[in-house]
Amino acid sequence: MPSSIELFEGSQKSTFSEQVVRWYHLHGRKNLPWQQETGDNKAYHVWLSEIMLQQTQVVKVIEYFDRFITALPTLEDLAGADEQQVLALWSGLGYYNRARNLHKTAKLCVEYHDGTLPENLDQLIDLPGIGRSTAAAIMSLAYHQAEPIMDGNVKRVFARYFMVSGEPNKSSTLKVLWQLAENNRERHQPAAYTQGLMDLGATVCTKNKPKCTSCPIKKGCQAKAKEVIEQYPQKKQKVRPKEVDLYALLCLKDGRVALSLRDEKSIWPSLWFMPLFKSEQSLKSAHPKAKVQFSLTHKLTHRILQIHVYLLAEPINLTDVNWVSIRELQECPHPKALNHILEQHENH
Ligand code: ADE
Repeated sequence: MPSSIELFEGSQKSTFSEQVVRWYHLHGRKNLPWQQETGDNKAYHVWLSEIMLQQTQVVKVIEYFDRFITALPTLEDLAGADEQQVLALWSGLGYYNRARNLHKTAKLCVEYHDGTLPENLDQLIDLPGIGRSTAAAIMSLAYHQAEPIMDGNVKRVFARYFMVSGEPNKSSTLKVLWQLAENNRERHQPAAYTQGLMDLGATVCTKNKPKCTSCPIKKGCQAKAKEVIEQYPQKKQKVRPKEVDLYALLCLKDGRVALSLRDEKSIWPSLWFMPLFKSEQSLKSAHPKAKVQFSLTHKLTHRILQIHVYLLAEPINLTDVNWVSIRELQECPHPKALNHILEQHENH
């Protein structure tokens, strides 16, 4: 006697979305912290998690999400917070524009939408930091509306299942992918479908070594039928990141480090970092007594930074700095590169 799952998997009648929903109920993720809220704060939790998950792995997001929600439990609390507090809660997650936009959006929701995230796709897309897919994730996960999503994992599932050629982020490819997503909406259980698609992409239809044998939609998968899974989605042509040299001044006193607030238009805007110079010459002319210590490489998305660290033993000619206790650095929004420099200095 076949089990009900086998019967279901053998069924020819189930649609793509029904199969994903069934798989979600059996194998999808249901214990993530942002899936637990059921009341008025649901959309706030979904939105915050979606923004954090845009460039960060689930395991890391869990820790940041819990800390953020504890500090700012409602959208109104976020709107009323100081930008520096929001950035400090984001410190270490990177891509700080996500945090700045989050704060702006919370304020706009308080001003124009009665302190909640609007239950409307176009109004969501109009808010800073919310693109079409994030808006659709909020609509489906929080408001149970059948809006299709198209994030990185879902692009891969669709590109393989329907053998969509072209680089997935090219506008012509995106058009095809979005159309397929529109044609495959799930009207009865949109939240389970959305989460199921994302989970399927993250755990089964993975970039490397996909687990096709345990895939719930393998029967209809066109790339699988032709055994060309690894050719989909088409790989992006790699652009070499630009290499940039930076000269940083390390000045320590009684367990504190001298930090200055980065300019709005500089690298790491509105974050705290050691005084930074574009050339050795400019650092040396401002601080002739500074001595070179070590250099380290720090990779950003489009740039590879070579940071040359100079130690200034006596804090002279230092302007516009705050002396920040190294133990309390967490309170002060800063890029990860600062932690790497301080760690390297300790081991030096
Ligand atoms: N990545 C983006 N959104 C996600 C979600 N809701 N669950 C797991 N991974 C995700």
